[in-house]
Amino acid sequence: MTITRSTAEKRAPSPGSTEPAEGQPRSPFLLVSDVDNTLTGDDAALAQFSEWFKRSRDHFRLAYSSGRFPDSLKNSVNTSHLPEPDAYIGGVGTEIEIVSSGAKLGDWPPANGRWDPGEVREALMAYDELRLQPEPLLSENKISAYGEDLTFGFIDRLRREFADLKLDVNIVYSSGRDLDVLPTGVNKGTAVGHLAELWQIPTEHVIVAGDSGNDLEMFRQGYNGIIVGNAKPELKEFIAPHVYHAQAHHAAGVLEGLEYWFTKMPTA
Ligand code: GLC
Ligand code: MG
Repeated sequence: MTITRSTAEKRAPSPGSTEPAEGQPRSPFLLVSDVDNTLTGDDAALAQFSEWFKRSRDHFRLAYSSGRFPDSLKNSVNTSHLPEPDAYIGGVGTEIEIVSSGAKLGDWPPANGRWDPGEVREALMAYDELRLQPEPLLSENKISAYGEDLTFGFIDRLRREFADLKLDVNIVYSSGRDLDVLPTGVNKGTAVGHLAELWQIPTEHVIVAGDSGNDLEMFRQGYNGIIVGNAKPELKEFIAPHVYHAQAHHAAGVLEGLEYWFTKMPTA
């Protein structure tokens, strides 16, 4: 039997309530949230989020999905109110680490098309507009550069160049500065899909939250979405029925979105 969104709503704990709603959900929910400027940015709101998560632990699995790698995210967890998640999706979807096993999933990312990190680096370094990010931010599956206020035209030119080089890449541009080049088909959205499949969590039980361009693919997968009030224009302009635009900023926006998905949405 599939679980409809309306049953999910009745059973889900509301962010405002201290008690879980009646009954046990047939499957837990999965909240996948970006970290920087989505959950972080307002310490008091993050502490509230952490309290809410403690109360809702039995109903939710939590994953962080970030442009940063898992070790850097763990450092943030150890030094802030960020609750410990069940999984880390790091490097813009290029790595998935399950906390209970302490190991990265060996079957992720999938090998899609032709990918050569050395060639990608060389191609990026040829542009005056770009400078490679520091080595610790790069991996064999994620080559990133800084490039201020790049235009659509410029990104298109890059795309064509990679096509000419017969490289199958996915270009992600965020916050008017961060340019990530990833193997095609690998991004935050497809990584969430892989995790949800692994944990057998149905699409309607997945909620994603974010604030910038590298989060866009999570919203393109049809999951219930929360775009926080402080989101960058590249994400704010993404309008779809399954995406809620919060007024509140940072973690308060995530809580507002959870409230919306669990109590405000008209039942189907
Ligand atoms: C994080 C990463 C950086 C990436 C950016 C956007 O800041 O450290 O490498 O470019 O996210 O995805
Ligand atoms: Mg962010």
